[in-house]
Amino acid sequence: MKDIITLGIETSCDETSVAVVKNGREILSNIIDTQIPIHEKYGGVVPEIASRNHVEAISRVTKLALKEANIDWEDIDAITPTYGPGLVGALLVGVSYAKALSFATHKPLVGVNHIHGHIAANYLTHRELKPPFLCLLISGGNTQIIHIKNYTEFEILGKTRDDAIGEAFDKVARVVGLDYPGGPKVDKLAENGKPNIKLPKTHFENSLDFSFSGIKTAVINLNHNTKDINQADLCASFEKTVTEVLIENTQKAIEQTGATILAIGGGVSANSYIRNEILKLQTDKLKVYMPDLKLCTDNAAMIASAGYYNYMAGKRDELNLNAIPNLKLT
Ligand code: KG4
Repeated sequence: MKDIITLGIETSCDETSVAVVKNGREILSNIIDTQIPIHEKYGGVVPEIASRNHVEAISRVTKLALKEANIDWEDIDAITPTYGPGLVGALLVGVSYAKALSFATHKPLVGVNHIHGHIAANYLTHRELKPPFLCLLISGGNTQIIHIKNYTEFEILGKTRDDAIGEAFDKVARVVGLDYPGGPKVDKLAENGKPNIKLPKTHFENSLDFSFSGIKTAVINLNHNTKDINQADLCASFEKTVTEVLIENTQKAIEQTGATILAIGGGVSANSYIRNEILKLQTDKLKVYMPDLKLCTDNAAMIASAGYYNYMAGKRDELNLNAIPNLKLT
């Protein structure tokens, strides 16, 4: 069978990334131009600045991705940009660029949901992984337990009712004085702490939904009201408590669905404590998968992989494809 090559384009937040992927599974190139140093001084992503930097970077990053993959335009079967969810101005840069490429090269345009990309990061790391499986999706914008029915069909079993887990990590980081992006720094600081501070957990009856606003507020209040609080202990306690909630709901989802495969995905799946605890769920009845660390956070290879599966399912978009900032997976 002929190889199918997809060109993934990712500009939903603060990484300009373009990648070339073969048959949805093999990365030929994955260029990531991060804007983190630009946004660091503002303590978070400034949407307008993100859009401008995507505009400046996109052509350069695309050329590099083609060069590193050692392919020409003729070799590409589909152009697959992220069209949501994300920052609308940032998304528009990738979507407009992809539409122009599709028009100029006569290659099909196939839009990709960013969350689908985070799930697909697992296909790039584990060639043997096939649906159906459960995915615990933990990122800066989303926290969901998803039943992956097949490569392009999903059912959301549980989701956050307020903050995404990544937002909570970033907020806790800010409270204890760590720079943006705070998640990885909380991860590091927690390694030196003891999880000895009691923090609240939120559960909903008969539901797999999450809520992280209560624990976030508890960390803010404790930090303000407790003299000389050990910040490493606070980070370790936060990490342990949210991980327990993630695992409790995931275990319920496994019981309810009888799933035999669990994957994780999204930026927060790079967290070392969460990875360790999730791995402990593996038994002879449950296989656990997680993406390579470098594929957990935003990158275009995962988008090109998801784009491949959309393409194979016959999905095609017209040149009126628009950015949808609050795009849902189902
Ligand atoms: O998936 P991602 O790159 O962007 C979205 O699609 O939302 O996730 C970014 C989030 C940020 O909140 C960042 O702080 C968090 O992932 N993150 C981490 C770690 N690495 C990234 N959170 C905890 N521990 C980490 N090691």
